[in-house]
Amino acid sequence: MDKSDAKKLLGEEFSFIFDNLDPIIQELKLEKNSKILDVGTGEGMMAIALALNNYHVLTGELESDESEYAKKNWLKSAQKAEVDHLITYTPFDAEKMPFEDGSFDIVFIAGALHHIEDSQATYDESVRVIKTNGKICIFEPNFRAIGILREKKFADHPDAVNLRDFNRVHKLSLEIKKTLFYDAYIFQKIE
Ligand SMILES: C[S@@+](CC[C@H](N)C(=O)[O-])C[C@H]1O[C@@H](n2cnc3c(N)ncnc32)[C@H](O)[C@@H]1O
Repeated sequence: MDKSDAKKLLGEEFSFIFDNLDPIIQELKLEKNSKILDVGTGEGMMAIALALNNYHVLTGELESDESEYAKKNWLKSAQKAEVDHLITYTPFDAEKMPFEDGSFDIVFIAGALHHIEDSQATYDESVRVIKTNGKICIFEPNFRAIGILREKKFADHPDAVNLRDFNRVHKLSLEIKKTLFYDAYIFQKIE
């Protein structure tokens, strides 16, 4: 299914978020067979946006998470957009990922890091599981977006994480791109 048909089928919120995620996905120029991990499945918007670009994605969230942000029936949306065959789900803890060192070309964490208890551990684990030259792409809502989220959806929504300090130990390269809704932090593990 093409992207505009999927946006119409999945509704206004998906469409808006997709328009924030998709230009960054394009700019990353990932190889078609890239090994991609999406941390914090939620509604599946990140995984579906990647799959609509024909990438295979492994995605997962914390099995014990009973919050309003988890278990959001991403599969139904993926099926609607006819991309469910490109998405594999496995539950895992982002703070202690069950993956070998250097398993992925890129890790995405979209709108999820501020919901994970230990964001530094999650970043450290992301650094561990990417290959040399691999990337980590973290979308965190900007100041205005947090205001909108609190006003329209979740009154007690947590603050976004500022990732500029996370790099002190690992010293990956960091580029920050702005979208209407997100700050996208793109780290690269350079030897
Ligand atoms: C708002 S949702 C993310 C939205 C999602 N990325 C999307 O594109 O639709 C937050 C997610 O973080 C997950 N999460 C929270 N703590 C976690 C942890 N320790 N490990 C893995 N996922 C976690 C939640 O279960 C939930 O899936």
